[in-house]
Amino acid sequence: MSNNEMISLQRDYPWIRTPTVACAPMRLIALANLAFEVSRAGGVGFIGAGSDVSSLDSELVKVKTLINSNGGTLKQNNDVLPVGVGFLLWAGDKLLKEALPILQRHRPAAVWLFAPNNNDDLTKWTKEIRRVSAESKIWIQVGTVANAMEVTRTCKPDVLVVQGSDAGGHGLQQSSGIISLFPEVDDALNSLEQQEGLKKPKLIAAGGIVESRGAAAALSLGASGVVMGTRYLATPEAQIQAGYRNVVVETTDGGKSTARTHIYDQLRGTTDWPSGYGGRGILNQSFYDAQNGMSLNENKRQYEHALKKGDGGWGPHGRLTGYAGTAVGLVNEVKGAAAVTEEVREGAKIVLKRAAAKL
Ligand SMILES: Cc1cc2nc3c(=O)[nH]c(=O)nc-3n(C[C@H](O)[C@H](O)[C@H](O)COP(=O)(O)O)c2cc1C
Repeated sequence: MSNNEMISLQRDYPWIRTPTVACAPMRLIALANLAFEVSRAGGVGFIGAGSDVSSLDSELVKVKTLINSNGGTLKQNNDVLPVGVGFLLWAGDKLLKEALPILQRHRPAAVWLFAPNNNDDLTKWTKEIRRVSAESKIWIQVGTVANAMEVTRTCKPDVLVVQGSDAGGHGLQQSSGIISLFPEVDDALNSLEQQEGLKKPKLIAAGGIVESRGAAAALSLGASGVVMGTRYLATPEAQIQAGYRNVVVETTDGGKSTARTHIYDQLRGTTDWPSGYGGRGILNQSFYDAQNGMSLNENKRQYEHALKKGDGGWGPHGRLTGYAGTAVGLVNEVKGAAAVTEEVREGAKIVLKRAAAKL
């Protein structure tokens, strides 16, 4: 990372330590406790508002309370809240209208935008957020080189999160791994800067990074930092049920035991995603039955039944959805989100030093 980049990161997010480690805004899972703990450890914690803001205001108030009860040690600029908030744009104008007053009131340091129905929606959201909360930095998650270029031209985001195919949860059905996607995005944006004078956003890598080696690899590719979702599922601060957390810790061999699919959305009724997106989750009986020809109606009936079983319903023989990325096999223990953030950040530096010593 260049000196200028470091200075600008520390100006925008004065509490962070570099390289940046951020927690993905996982809807219903990444709430005030997780976001606060990640930021407290020098990362960027995001609250996942997703497609619904009904509890967003209270989560942001909770972050303020947590900051105050911790002696206010998180460095802030002009009362900007040292966490981010993430939205799923396919939810449309109603969500934007409801989100704006909350963003204006709390001024989170970053707002994360993902999965629009079209690029015009991204432009509208970016413009409106900058109007009501000029201090909030705009982070946009993209999964292709073409998208990265279009979004840079039309929205001029502060940060582009480059999401590779290994990512847990939703992402593009047709996509590539971060190791090839990231450098191609980087090259394309360098060309845009040279040819069209468009300032290159900061680039952060996501997808399949759960520990220091993955983070070090992303930094070697040129990333300013990393975003992790799957790793933070195995923290006490993630708002998930014990059965889900256990299966994340127990699952191995993520390339074999997870897939990006539509079946989990169909079972859960979350079918509003734009075409082209699928959700990567741990394979279970619902998935296998769908593959073997079980009708959606019957699969749903059995899913509803499993829901009643609670924690017993997860795992390869269960039916409940556990979204997670291919790196799930490297997640072997539950650990506090602050410790995870610190370990990945500091560990990446050690890995890079070791690698440099081989030269
Ligand atoms: C359980 C889960 C839920 C997710 N929910 C969201 C979400 O609501 N909004 C979003 O922008 N991304 C969401 N993501 C995707 C993340 O933004 C990110 O791309 C992904 O977690 C990175 O890959 P990793 O899981 O391998 O770390 C989710 C990911 C997971 C694992």
